[in-house]
This record gives sequence, C-alpha cells and structure tokens, in this order.
Amino acid sequence: MSFTIDIADQVALVTGGTRGIGLAIAEQLAIAGAKVVVASRRIETVREAEKTLKDKGLNVTGQICNVGDTDDRKRLVDEVIKLHGQLDILVNNAAANPVFGNVEDTEPWAFAKIMSINVEAPFELAKLALPYLKTSSHGNVLNISSIGGLTPEPKLGIYSMSKAALNSLTKVLAKEWGKHGVRVNAVCPGLIQTDFSEALWSNDKLVQHMTQATPLGRIGQPSEIGQLSLAIVSGAAGYCTGHLFTADGGYTI
Ligand SMILES: NC(=O)c1ccc[n+]([C@@H]2O[C@H](COP(=O)([O-])OP(=O)(O)OC[C@H]3O[C@@H](n4cnc5c(N)ncnc54)[C@H](OP(=O)(O)O)[C@@H]3O)[C@@H](O)[C@H]2O)c1
Repeated sequence: MSFTIDIADQVALVTGGTRGIGLAIAEQLAIAGAKVVVASRRIETVREAEKTLKDKGLNVTGQICNVGDTDDRKRLVDEVIKLHGQLDILVNNAAANPVFGNVEDTEPWAFAKIMSINVEAPFELAKLALPYLKTSSHGNVLNISSIGGLTPEPKLGIYSMSKAALNSLTKVLAKEWGKHGVRVNAVCPGLIQTDFSEALWSNDKLVQHMTQATPLGRIGQPSEIGQLSLAIVSGAAGYCTGHLFTADGGYTI
C-alpha cells in the first residue's frame, strides 16, 4: 500500500517564505497541492520567489510584510483571506539575529529586535490566524525554531533564548488549541545552508568541527526542512501536537 501526502485545497502562509528554509517549505507545501502565500519584507525577493515557484507550475502568491510590524501582520492575514477565503496552515519561519557575540555585549535594541521578530511575531500571527484555523479541519501552526532553542549555541545567546521561548510558545498553544483541532508544532533545524547561516558554513574550521560532531557528517539543506515540514502539517503527523522535531543530522544526540 502506498501513502501520498496530499494537502490539496488547503491554504498555507509562510513568513520569510522567499528565501532559504521558508522558500523550501513553501515549495513542498505547494507541490503537495496547497495554495501558498509567501511573505517577506522586500519587494524584489517577494517577486523573485513568486516567479520561481509559479514557473514550476505551483500556486504561490507573494505578499510584502515585515512580521515585526503590527499593521503589516494584520494586513497580511487579511490579504490571505481576501485571496483564498481560508487559512489552514501558518508557518512562522521569519527570524532575526542581528548580532553575534557574548550576552554582556548585546545591546537593548538587539535584544528587543530578536524578541520582537522571533517570539512576538509568531505569537501575534498565530492569534490573527486562529479564527480561520479553528474553522479548518486541518488547522496547523508550524514554528521554525532552532537547536539553539534546545541547547544554547555559542555567541548566539539571545537568539537561542528567543528560540527556547518559541519552543515553549509551541507547547502552550498546542495545549490551549487542541480543543479546536488545531495542531501546533516546531522544527528545530541544525546548521542548514542558507544566507542566514552563511557566516557559519563559510567558516572552514567551524564546518570541519560541525561535520565531525554530526553523525551524518554534513550540514543540512533547506529542502530537507521543507520535506519534514510538509510531513508535520499533513495528515501523516495528524496525532502530533506540541512537539519539537529536531533535524540536525544527529548533532544534538
Ligand atoms: N539556516 C540555518 O542554519 C538555521 C538553523 C536553525 C534555525 N534556522 C531558522 O530557520 C528560519 C529561516 O532561516 P533561513 O536560514 O532560511 O534564513 P534566510 O535564508 O536568511 O531567509 C530569511 C527569510 O525571512 C525573510 N525575513 C527576514 N526578516 C523578516 C521580517 N522581519 N519579516 C518578514 N520576513 C523576513 C527574508 O526575506 P526579506 O529579506 O525579503 O525580508 C527571507 O525570506 C529562521 O527561523 C531561522 O532562525 C535556520
């Protein structure tokens, strides 16, 4: 007996869906039949992502949104509803890490930005999405977290703390929204080759250390997070909620 993942007729919103992991998630959801809205701050990346995915025959629309902005968030969810009349899957993927260094050197503006984009925005977007997720028979929130949220990463202290908060938010929402049939899960990627992590994977010494410490002996690719994300929001994981799915080649074992 074969099993095919099918999320046809569902509508998904992927924040930060125009590059890297978000783009890979958007692509997988659209391949599986969803109508996908990708959102990010810059018109050029939004248009480019929209074209890349539409050229592959996928049903994808781009929207401009800075997830750190209250009005933008509301406008984004309103646009999704105006376009498609429903919202079944929210993927909170956009994140920020403007600093690299020790906690004592982290300035208040950096702390505020990290918490605003990585914690407050997923929380607020989930609340805006809830009325639609509740009426869907497939309501899902997927938060893209990090292994830093499980064990703090060196020089990424406040970012790690923000992802730990996102992990906790995932569990809190799963507990509160299970009664609505809404599942809430998180993915905790290890090092994945994207623009965001370029400072890490372009450092030969660090890559050598990472690959030696990783049972699978390599860093990850965005498509691997895309495929895992699709499985989590689909019926394949229909009895999973409040869970943190680690995808790190075994690094944190
Ligand atoms: N790459 C890794 O090794 C790794 C590891 C663990 C976890 N993660 C997590 O995976 C997620 C995606 O990371 P990535 O590596 O794919 O990053 P990326 O390649 O830098 O892509 C980030 C995406 O988010 C958008 N974005 C950034 N700030 C935004 C904002 N304020 N509002 C809306 N969109 C915004 C960007 O587009 P614009 O510039 O157009 O806004 C872009 O589409 C993040 O949550 C990150 O913490 C990544």
